[in-house]
Amino acid sequence: MTQKILVLPGDGIGPEITAQASRILAACQARGLDVEIEEGLLGGGAYDAHGEPLPAETLEKARAARGILLGAVGGPKWDTIEDLAKRPEKGLLGLRKELGLFGNLRPAITYPQLAEASSLKRELVAGLDIMIVRELTGGIYFGQPRGIEERDGQRVGFNTYVYSESEIERIGRVAFELAQKRGRKLCSVDKANVLEATILWREVMERLAPEYPDVELSHMYVDNAAMQLVREPKQFDVVVTGNMFGDILSDAAAMLTGSIGMLPSASLNESGQGMYEPCHGSAPDIAGQNVANPLATILSVAMMLRYSLDAPALAAQIEEAVGKVLDEGLRTADIASGGTRTVSTSEMGDAVLAAFEAL
Ligand code: NAI
Ligand code: MG
Repeated sequence: MTQKILVLPGDGIGPEITAQASRILAACQARGLDVEIEEGLLGGGAYDAHGEPLPAETLEKARAARGILLGAVGGPKWDTIEDLAKRPEKGLLGLRKELGLFGNLRPAITYPQLAEASSLKRELVAGLDIMIVRELTGGIYFGQPRGIEERDGQRVGFNTYVYSESEIERIGRVAFELAQKRGRKLCSVDKANVLEATILWREVMERLAPEYPDVELSHMYVDNAAMQLVREPKQFDVVVTGNMFGDILSDAAAMLTGSIGMLPSASLNESGQGMYEPCHGSAPDIAGQNVANPLATILSVAMMLRYSLDAPALAAQIEEAVGKVLDEGLRTADIASGGTRTVSTSEMGDAVLAAFEAL
């Protein structure tokens, strides 16, 4: 059956980088991937055209799509919009919420060719390949009650860390299934020595474990996990954790690689529908200059093929093509060290496409 893909270029460098990723998608189509590709507006561009960062038409197209490829949204042009609900970033949050994208997959991969870019020693990060699975729609970012109120003559601020068993179970299953397809190690990160909500988290992970006998489950407190990530990151395979801990740990893990322009991400819902996007933002400082690194977005296409379109072989070919281009010494400016030739966004796209087509 033909599946639908929605491409949302967004703002800043978004259109430049998604243009290169779309060429790879088209090449996959030519290689037999049965998809129909549409484009839509999201973020600041959508606000300019329709007065809304998430127009109804885009939401409708998104609901119908099996996979959504997003560039990035936002930029200084829209930072002065007074109504916060109309800001570009709200369009993205709205889309995540409307589609119930609870499972955030954030790989941190250090290509051996780029290991010098890390702030850690080369041997600690060369070949690093970890996957952080972050729960995205629950936990303290959404828990009730929340607010700031007057108590005993002073103001207090409060939020609620809450997870139901079913919320923990569904993110747990995503993580166990991923671990089965990778290195078969799953580390669940909590703060079960202090937070009751995470005692339940740990219990549910333990309860699921017998269903995945080929996966080795371990637990770690979040403070220790932060230390271990910088001490010896290669000890991890898949890490699963709640929304707030995942937010922080995934950013730390991303920085280990030293190359934000290289990192893709996925956000999945229960039906396997997913939104795929680079970890970086819209980079307004370099927008329109044809210098941005399109590889994170190209690698997001590979994740879409693997996790929403059941085309792992094509996904692996895209990743192989990216590896070949790095081997050839091609680098965009953000990853320039260690390369032999600095190339533009579109030249990088040309090179990956050529390497893909040669496979
Ligand atoms: P950013 O990730 O856009 O940029 C940080 C730095 O990294 C900049 O110097 C930028 O030039 C560089 N950079 C980022 N991606 C790059 C790429 N592909 N190639 C080469 N260099 C790259 O983060 P920043 O500056 O905090 O935010 C800029 C705008 O992006 C803001 O409006 C922010 O709200 C938005 N943003 C959007 C996100 C999304 O759409 N998912 C995520 C994060 C930020
Ligand atoms: Mg963050």
